[in-house]
Amino acid sequence: MANQDDFRKPLLPGKGASDYERYLRTDELLALQKLPEDLLHKDETTFIVVHQASELLMKGAAFELERALAYIEQGDFFNSTRLIRRANQMIEQPITLLHVLETITPYDYHLIRAGLGHGSGLDSPGFLSLLHVGPRLGQAFNEQVKRAGLTVDDIYRRHEEFFGLHDVAERLLDFDERMQLFRFHHLKLAERVIGGRVVGTMGTPVEVLQQRMEHWLYKDLWDIRNRITAATNENQSGGQY
Ligand code: HEM
Repeated sequence: MANQDDFRKPLLPGKGASDYERYLRTDELLALQKLPEDLLHKDETTFIVVHQASELLMKGAAFELERALAYIEQGDFFNSTRLIRRANQMIEQPITLLHVLETITPYDYHLIRAGLGHGSGLDSPGFLSLLHVGPRLGQAFNEQVKRAGLTVDDIYRRHEEFFGLHDVAERLLDFDERMQLFRFHHLKLAERVIGGRVVGTMGTPVEVLQQRMEHWLYKDLWDIRNRITAATNENQSGGQY
């Protein structure tokens, strides 16, 4: 029988004293931040950790959304919604992390900003990969609706009968809502830290972030609610809500 010492010995190849460190490559991961002596301000560690954590989580979310896309194409709506739900949970974290950066004061941030060059979230690989998979998910959903000989309006009216497609639509709406929430909280963060009428490190006026907030991935899935309310009001003349 193995004694206690045997359990402490790593089995996996790689750097690190334990299998935990080897499997997760924590040596490399935890060396990806600036050394304390190189920090432009002590708050810079938080600034870097929040960005890196957000990139990892958005990468994870985009990975699951690509898997969900393949499931939609195969007509497996249960597995697709399982993964879209997971991705949405992951996107919640970068939204929450934006609030951590609200604790950096404007004067301190300008010391950090001086070291960013033209670095800008416009080049965020994680966010760009979410923007890349988003429209393809919508397209795959619409193709399945068409293949079933239905319209989006039918799916909503007969939601119990077409539960699978309806659930895909609602989970895509959750995803779209989270992208908008990220943009909203990010805009408020930028307004708090650098102001609402200035130009970003890549030359983009902060006002442009406001316009981007009005970008919808699945406009039709939002519009359907207007059509349902309008139709209901017509049928129950006098109804307002
Ligand atoms: C103090 C914190 C932050 C400030 C002041 C800030 C400011 C800005 C500004 C001004 C822009 C416009 C582009 C430009 O740079 O010229 C931008 C874009 C962007 N930033 Fe940030 N940002 C901050 C934190 C973050 C964090 C933590 C993330 C997470 C990854 C992030 C992701 C993005 C993304 C994705 C865009 C493009 C937005 C879009 O396409 O709508 N930012 N940011």
